[in-house]
Amino acid sequence: MGNMPKDFLWGGALAAHQFEGGWNQGGKGPSVVDVMTAGAHGVSREITETIEEDKFYPNHEAIDFYSNYKEDIALFGEMGLKCLRTSIGWSRIFPKGDEEEPCEEGLQFYDKVLDELLKHGIEPVITLSHFEMPLHLAREYGGFRNRKVVDFFVKFAEVCFERYKDKVTYWMTFNEINNKMDVSNPLFLWTNSGVVVKEGENAKEVMYQAGHHELIASALAIAKGKEINPNFKMGGMVSHVPIYPYSSNPEDIMLAEEYMRQRFFFPDVHVRGYYPNYVLKEFEREGYNIKFEDGDEEILRNGTIDYLGFSYYMSTTVKSDVEKDNTGDIVNGALPNGVENPYIKASDWGWAIDPTGLRYTLNRLYDRYQIPLFIVENGFGAIDTVEEDGSIHDPERIEYLKSHIEALEKAVMYDGVDLIGYTPWGIIDIVSFTTGEMKKRYGMIYVDRDNEGRGSMKRYKKDSFDWYKKVIQTNGEEL
Ligand code: BG6
Repeated sequence: MGNMPKDFLWGGALAAHQFEGGWNQGGKGPSVVDVMTAGAHGVSREITETIEEDKFYPNHEAIDFYSNYKEDIALFGEMGLKCLRTSIGWSRIFPKGDEEEPCEEGLQFYDKVLDELLKHGIEPVITLSHFEMPLHLAREYGGFRNRKVVDFFVKFAEVCFERYKDKVTYWMTFNEINNKMDVSNPLFLWTNSGVVVKEGENAKEVMYQAGHHELIASALAIAKGKEINPNFKMGGMVSHVPIYPYSSNPEDIMLAEEYMRQRFFFPDVHVRGYYPNYVLKEFEREGYNIKFEDGDEEILRNGTIDYLGFSYYMSTTVKSDVEKDNTGDIVNGALPNGVENPYIKASDWGWAIDPTGLRYTLNRLYDRYQIPLFIVENGFGAIDTVEEDGSIHDPERIEYLKSHIEALEKAVMYDGVDLIGYTPWGIIDIVSFTTGEMKKRYGMIYVDRDNEGRGSMKRYKKDSFDWYKKVIQTNGEEL
């Protein structure tokens, strides 16, 4: 089949709020995740009004990369990572979000992190907003339902572009901008957009308005970034969970196709620079009144992305003649017509394990958009056991990653998909986004910390550490 491209970016992925800790250090203000308690599989995280003394907020300390960044980056270097995808905590740079001037101490922290990465030959891949909006913008302005927040985001982006223009080439504007299409769980609109749906409001309409503002913010930031450094590679980032028809029944096929629009709407606008007809028809049909300002169409046209980053964890399946209530299920794929796929096993958290779905996704996205793709999240959340001698055997994780790498290699070397890189999620154990747990571990580096925040924070290498190091050394030949 040939070889993987020589400059393929094998890496790892993280997000500031899930691993940095230091939530109130260095001048940082609280973000929307700093008021989220811990949940569990099937138990939602609570979003509290303020920070309450007697509650546990797992992201406050996370794994304390804030104090430990040199040692952690040295481990990433030892693993041979060619890139690290992480994010910039918006509220480290603008603690409340609406200040005139950025926080110098926050900017210096990322100078140090980026310099350390570059010292180890690791290319930074930066997401500007990975669920880290300053809490003040959510509480006082209503988050992205308010057009003013577009300006605050663009200012934040501009400050980062100016400051790090010689250190960062790959940028992404919003993490999983499309996961809020699932309005059944308030978590997604809150973390994506700082939005709480009020009683009597139509959640979908609110979501589309906030989403429109984010698409505008993304396009404006992209245009600004290109002005500051024309060599920047500007990306969008979406969650991609392919939706399969349950059978060859044409009703199942068409239903799956319609559901796929939930995945495609945001990237369609990011890539093409205009709204697809199926959404305009939906606005008309449902009577949604989404406010566009004069000039918005031009802004979208002038701010399209250079590459599409996406997360891939699993697939879902829908059946036309089944209706069930899935509202309690917080997994990305929760759909009213969702059914179990008899050909696919699931993880302990109910996430379907489907490597072929990754090859299918790469082909579908590449056929549709014809721009480079970047797998910026993929991985296996599982419970790990530390043996008496400190070793951690994680064959299931290795098997998951191996099968997904095989699938992506087939997409590149057989199908001809243009793929920039692969950054497995949570390269070091971090706080889970959906459940707030520590025991749902994705890392190749174990962190001694539990769900209640106990533990020494010591780092240990899992078996997957050496395995992945070899994968990178051989450019994906030895799996
Ligand atoms: C993606 C997010 O949805 O999935 C990450 O971008 C998140 O922030 C990841 O951590 C895995 O989800 P979880 O809930 O297992 O941490």
